[in-house]
Amino acid sequence: MTENSRTPKKEESPTDTAKTDWQSLKLADKYLPKIKTASELEPAILLRDVHNQINKEIAINGWVYNIRSSGKIMFLLMRDGSGEIQAVASANEVGAEVWQQLQELTNESSLQVKGIVKKEPRSPSGFELQLSSVKLIQIAPEYPLGKKEHGPDFLLDNRHLWLRSKKQRAVMELRNEIFFSMTLFLKEQDFIRFDTPIFQPVSCEDTSELFAINYFGKKSYLSQSGQLYCEAAEFALGRTYDFGPVFRAEKSKTRKHLIEFWMLDAELPFTDLNGLMDFEETMIKRVISDCLKNKSRALKILERDTSKLERYTKESFIKIKHQEVINLLNDKFGSKLSDLDDIGAPEEAQLASIYDLPVFVTDWPAEIKAFYMPQYHDGKIFRAICADLIAPEGFGEIIGGGEREFNYNKLLKVLEQKKYPYKDYAWYMDLRKYGTIPHSGFGIGIERLIRFISGVQHIRETIPFPRMLNRLYP
Ligand code: 4AD
Ligand code: MG
Repeated sequence: MTENSRTPKKEESPTDTAKTDWQSLKLADKYLPKIKTASELEPAILLRDVHNQINKEIAINGWVYNIRSSGKIMFLLMRDGSGEIQAVASANEVGAEVWQQLQELTNESSLQVKGIVKKEPRSPSGFELQLSSVKLIQIAPEYPLGKKEHGPDFLLDNRHLWLRSKKQRAVMELRNEIFFSMTLFLKEQDFIRFDTPIFQPVSCEDTSELFAINYFGKKSYLSQSGQLYCEAAEFALGRTYDFGPVFRAEKSKTRKHLIEFWMLDAELPFTDLNGLMDFEETMIKRVISDCLKNKSRALKILERDTSKLERYTKESFIKIKHQEVINLLNDKFGSKLSDLDDIGAPEEAQLASIYDLPVFVTDWPAEIKAFYMPQYHDGKIFRAICADLIAPEGFGEIIGGGEREFNYNKLLKVLEQKKYPYKDYAWYMDLRKYGTIPHSGFGIGIERLIRFISGVQHIRETIPFPRMLNRLYP
């Protein structure tokens, strides 16, 4: 990297302006933009639409992601966000001036190229551009990514640039597909989107994972889930869902935990656990089908085994009680699990090895589940009427859900036992006072679902800018 193009070292806080050597941060003139406004560019075609432009001359705006040269021929690989194309330039045909401009290009330079679209069965896009002219927008200094294999820390430090790489773009395209598939499905099923607050006075899940915030002198928390508010919405609007960022101060450093992630909570009035599980299964099958249908290229780039995904859309998901899981794993793998144990990553992998299908684990010990779940006594312990959906292939829990306790006095007893301050939950209790109904709901972490469908091993690649135990930059 040249002196002029260096990026600030990490220890330099961006606000520590006194210590910053502004002069050394300046870019050389040759790296500054060569145009003043977008109006200097001709109207361009998106690469996703080039199939309509065969044998026509078009303009394309984008970035160079690779350059190959052989003597008097140059191959520019370009992308524009919507697709990729190879532009081919021949020194003899483009003339000296254009050829000279092309020699200046570096990876990640931005430009407009003009040329004629040709069918090219050997290229992955099926097309090629016979380049006739270029308009340079910016020549990029030597690009820090791509020349060699990089470690995860380097890539995460450069997440803003890493996002441009093929695999990362494929994951983000899948994320988009999954989001729209879920929300479209819910719309078709007559759900209303309802936005729930991020600042919340109470805990929805485990209190140890809360991010406390000073809210004008009052203690408040960042949302762990919009569920409780979604329940209020349900009593007003019927089927409702929310989708937004949630926060967990979890000290977990695993491949499936984020500190900030995006959750979709949905509430189904007049629905019991079986109805809920059926609904979740239909939704997951629909989302996988949409990805297979609309995102086959992304799944191919990610080397996902799509035959497995196909199978999950066809076969019935497994339903098994927590107690049976404990017995099964103790028998089969000699595990020493007790009746009250949680099901962690090793157990999730064991379940996957037995069934190779998504598994609903139901009837968990109430002690390890949230306060709002209805309970029953099984002769030994209290159990919650709930279900977690465990994805196959070791991807683990993707959905948490269950029935909601709708009897005021039973819920009151739980609040008392857990020593939760009644006044904070008074509004939630009102829902059980004024026209209570049996209802169920679930929450799905979209990054967990993306990880499962994409097959990407680490959850940090499923969200644009991951927030993890040791990461808040960029
Ligand atoms: O199981 P959880 O904690 O359930 C709830 O928060 C309920 N209030 C949801 C509801 O019923 N509306 O979280 C739900 C889902 C998990 O199944 C998982 O997919 C995801 O959120 N999740 C995480 N994803 C990434 N990083 C973490 N630290 C996560 N914790 C939970
Ligand atoms: Mg859970």
